[in-house]
Amino acid sequence: MGKTVGSCLGFLCLLIPRTRNGLKISLKNYCESWRMNVELHNIRDFEVVPEECTDHIGRYVRSIQYQVDSERTAEECLVYVSTSCNLKKDTKDAWIFDIDDTLLSTVPFYKTILYGGKKLNETSLEEWMNKANAPALDHSLRLFNDLKSRGIQIILVSARREHLRSATIDNLVKVGYHGWTGLILRGEADELVSVQKYKSDVRKQLMSEGYRIWGIVGDQYSSIEGLPSARRAFKLPNPMYYVA
Ligand SMILES: *[C@@H]1O[C@H](CO)[C@@H](O)[C@H](O)[C@H]1NC(C)=O
Repeated sequence: MGKTVGSCLGFLCLLIPRTRNGLKISLKNYCESWRMNVELHNIRDFEVVPEECTDHIGRYVRSIQYQVDSERTAEECLVYVSTSCNLKKDTKDAWIFDIDDTLLSTVPFYKTILYGGKKLNETSLEEWMNKANAPALDHSLRLFNDLKSRGIQIILVSARREHLRSATIDNLVKVGYHGWTGLILRGEADELVSVQKYKSDVRKQLMSEGYRIWGIVGDQYSSIEGLPSARRAFKLPNPMYYVA
């Protein structure tokens, strides 16, 4: 199972100080730069978090730093809305949110698979989602309510599948989300294309209905990339998994 990192192999990595081009780096340095490069979208399509970094990633998603990073994202959304959006308030001003790890946290589930260190079993993730017990991400709940109070239509676009609709609504309402304008989930035909294509097609449809999509908040690049794009996109941190 050995993954080579610098000069070491597997669990030995925990013990041996490694070097990169003559630079001595600690395991923490190594894992933090892995995390940073995921967020920068330099590391893509990873299936699992490197085994030697699951502890670091687990700590991060449970840390105050993760909350502060996410809070900052929400704050920047409000700066943008206040200074750069000429809202018409004609029910066509819109904002898109992802659900998982944007409005609701899947950290309690990912904890059971080493924070992404073990390969995802989709069935067990869906079983967990069906229980409707995902906690809210508080910074997103505040942002959601603030945008709504400005007369912006909130549209939720998720790669969750249609059969999870009622569990998803129950979960959202239970933790305080209400008053969204649309909840778009993946139908069978949408499963034939990538998540990025599905989400771009949804934006295209919304725009054809006259919506001005001022912004998107998501934890995955597949939620915000592709055409047509929103006027601005905001990326929340998520080092646990990658959705293409
Ligand atoms: C995935 O999880 C389901 C339900 O928890 C289980 O029945 C199935 O065997 C698992 N699949 C794999 C490949 O581990």
